[in-house]
Amino acid sequence: MQTKLTNILKEAKELLANATGIAEAEQVRIRMLGKKGKLTEILRSMGTLDPEERKIIGQAANNVRAEIEARLTDRFADLKQAEKGLKFEAERIDVTEPGKQRPLGAKHPISVTIDEISGVFMGMGYSIAEGPEIETVYFNFDALNAAADHPSRDMTDTFYIDENTLLRTQTSPVQARTLLKQNPPIKIISPGRCYRCDTPDATHSPMFHQVEGLLVDEGVSMSDLKGTLDSFAKQLFGAGVKTNFRPHFFPFTEPSAEMDVSCFKCGGEGCRVCKGSGWIEILGCGMVHPNVLDVGGIDTEKYTGFAFGMGVERIAMLKYGVDDIRLFYENDMRFIGQFK
Ligand code: FA5
Ligand code: MG
Repeated sequence: MQTKLTNILKEAKELLANATGIAEAEQVRIRMLGKKGKLTEILRSMGTLDPEERKIIGQAANNVRAEIEARLTDRFADLKQAEKGLKFEAERIDVTEPGKQRPLGAKHPISVTIDEISGVFMGMGYSIAEGPEIETVYFNFDALNAAADHPSRDMTDTFYIDENTLLRTQTSPVQARTLLKQNPPIKIISPGRCYRCDTPDATHSPMFHQVEGLLVDEGVSMSDLKGTLDSFAKQLFGAGVKTNFRPHFFPFTEPSAEMDVSCFKCGGEGCRVCKGSGWIEILGCGMVHPNVLDVGGIDTEKYTGFAFGMGVERIAMLKYGVDDIRLFYENDMRFIGQFK
């Protein structure tokens, strides 16, 4: 029995020395001191010994147990320390390592263009007004003096939600809403999305953007309109640009005009961009129709005003030499990334 005890102690020491982790050390404890452990077995079998022998072996077994327990305690402490060290090492952060470069996004070219247009008008003292994209037939057409049989009201031109509601076909309903809400002097622009049942091609999209403008005050005339828009064109396209106003028709303005700018590519000589004419149409405009001012509760004896509306995609295409409107909506990073 004495030999057995010596062997148990020897085995426990060896196993503990080789244990590589806390879990393994725990196995050693179970193997030696557990309920079915080797030392426990010996202590149990001691009943068969005579009293004298039992005393000696009991003493020796207790010594072995104490020794193993002490070794276990030490080994557990060491292994715990080692595992902590490993954990720290695994979680270590190298603060000197250079940071990851995240690629910076870019503004969408349509946003860039809206910002540029808005910047010019804000410089002239205009503020920004907003209106809903889901609009009533009333504000999109009726309040804007559009005849009951005006062709743009057709289902083939307009996305209707129900008979009274539609996706606005233009930003002009913001004019009508602003006239109701504000008293003159009024000086606003309103950028936003518009929708029309147009088949997509190089210059048409069923969703596109406009920037509306409205100015109402005492003594406003067509020459104010021309001066404002001429100054706008020069700030946006360059000081050398000339403007030309052609008579046109809109239900909500009278008189109405379309404004062309001299082609900044060829300077008016005629080229591919201006299709040989030397001029490029960029917006519709006119003096606000008295019927529209009336609906807005504005005193038409005292006040007059002008309004204009421009297609943002069209201006972006001209400024950046983009020849297909669909490129703006495909989200191809190679295209969009160029507008940083
Ligand atoms: C209007 O929408 C008027 N509301 C503009 C206006 C405002 C006139 C205030 C007078 C006073 P028009 O239908 O011409 O006008 O559209 C204006 C611009 O929107 C066009 O010149 C074009 O640049 C743009 N546009 C129209 N339809 C589309 C489309 N399907 N895709 C892209 N741009 C479009
Ligand atoms: Mg037009």
